[in-house]
Amino acid sequence: MRSLLAGKKILFAISGSIAVYKTAAWVRELVLAEAEVTVVMTEAASRFVSSLTFAALSGRRVYTGMFEHDAGEAMTHISLASECDLFIIAPATAQTIAKLANGLADDLLSTLALANRAKLLVFPAMNSAMYCHAATRANLARLQEYGYTVIAPEEGKLACGEEGVGRLPDWETAREEIAAACSVQDLQGQTVLVTAGPTWEALDPARHLGNRSSGKMGYSLARSARRRGADVILVSGPCSLTPPPGVETVHVTSARQMHDAVLAHYDRADIVVMAAAVADYRPKKTMAEKVKKSGRATTLELVANPDILKKLGSRKKQAKRPLLVGFAAESSDHLAEGERKLLQKNLDLIVINDIAGSDTGFEADTNQVSILDKEGGLEKLPLLSKDECGTRILDRVVALLQ
Ligand code: PMT
Repeated sequence: MRSLLAGKKILFAISGSIAVYKTAAWVRELVLAEAEVTVVMTEAASRFVSSLTFAALSGRRVYTGMFEHDAGEAMTHISLASECDLFIIAPATAQTIAKLANGLADDLLSTLALANRAKLLVFPAMNSAMYCHAATRANLARLQEYGYTVIAPEEGKLACGEEGVGRLPDWETAREEIAAACSVQDLQGQTVLVTAGPTWEALDPARHLGNRSSGKMGYSLARSARRRGADVILVSGPCSLTPPPGVETVHVTSARQMHDAVLAHYDRADIVVMAAAVADYRPKKTMAEKVKKSGRATTLELVANPDILKKLGSRKKQAKRPLLVGFAAESSDHLAEGERKLLQKNLDLIVINDIAGSDTGFEADTNQVSILDKEGGLEKLPLLSKDECGTRILDRVVALLQ
């Protein structure tokens, strides 16, 4: 997020709803991501939360009225709009939405919206009856016709005490919409299936065989693909991460469940990225009852799990789609093992993941990978955050699609 937003000029316009208090945290997050945030508030908005709060959080002057500017700033409504890379209206009240839909320009916010040429995100927030009213629906449809991106509010308990649709989304959802607005939509129209996390192979009701995968690499890939406009299916083994908003997530536990889930969604996929650490073996028998301690040495018999990626590779044969990307988690013979897996599994790309250091591979927030293609082309990436690593892997995927 930081690299995406660093230096971006964001015009953040706030209209008068109780949800204003939530946007204070959004402004803070955007500033932490190194965006240059200029806040504009309607008169009603500044009654809910003082403009001083937003001035302190953004580190900049907050604009409230059309005519509250210094001499020499007579055209604030034009200059603020023409200088921004992204225009966000949050919360957008029914009144503000109605004004924008009808091209009214009777305050600074609505005037800026008319003068604006940058991408415009509208986050409606209001009582659910107001949101569901035919007039508001028609106004929102009109905004979409103008090319504005309208982010649907969430359902839940509203500040007015009612239950229903109308809540301003949480920051996590807003962050993804803002990140998508700042990303090239080069995966639009593509469906990307990503696997993530470990698999657990049950021994008995209390124990399993597993591995150290946290899911971070796969979740970063899923998030990045979504930001770039893809429809994303995430097949996730057991982990503690929250799926990225807007991603269809299928939770599985064992390798066989992951196999079934991947094959069930495979036909829809244009691109498959297998970042999961799938167990190669499982216990031959899963005990129905917890195994009691006997104190004696014991032997565990294992049988092979299906190799999901190999199966996809053999299915693919001559077909161009889906594009198959595998990972190879290696602590030695990295290139040779990567090459072997690329050929054996009939892949388009393999991401050779060094798992030998504490800052790379399993559990870490950073990763060290090399990307190998079918023609033998090798790209060695430096140590990167897993988000950045996911972005670079998808850059290669996009290049192959072209
Ligand atoms: O989740 P994190 O903590 O962020 O860690 C990320 C990671 C290290 C798990 C990830 O980056 C990674 O390297 N994933 C692949 C792990 C792995 O199982 O590698 P492998 O070399 O054993 O398998 C090769 C490929 O075949 C992988 O794409 C794997 O998903 C796939 N496979 C493996 C076994 C199997 N039965 N079926 C498979 O499809």
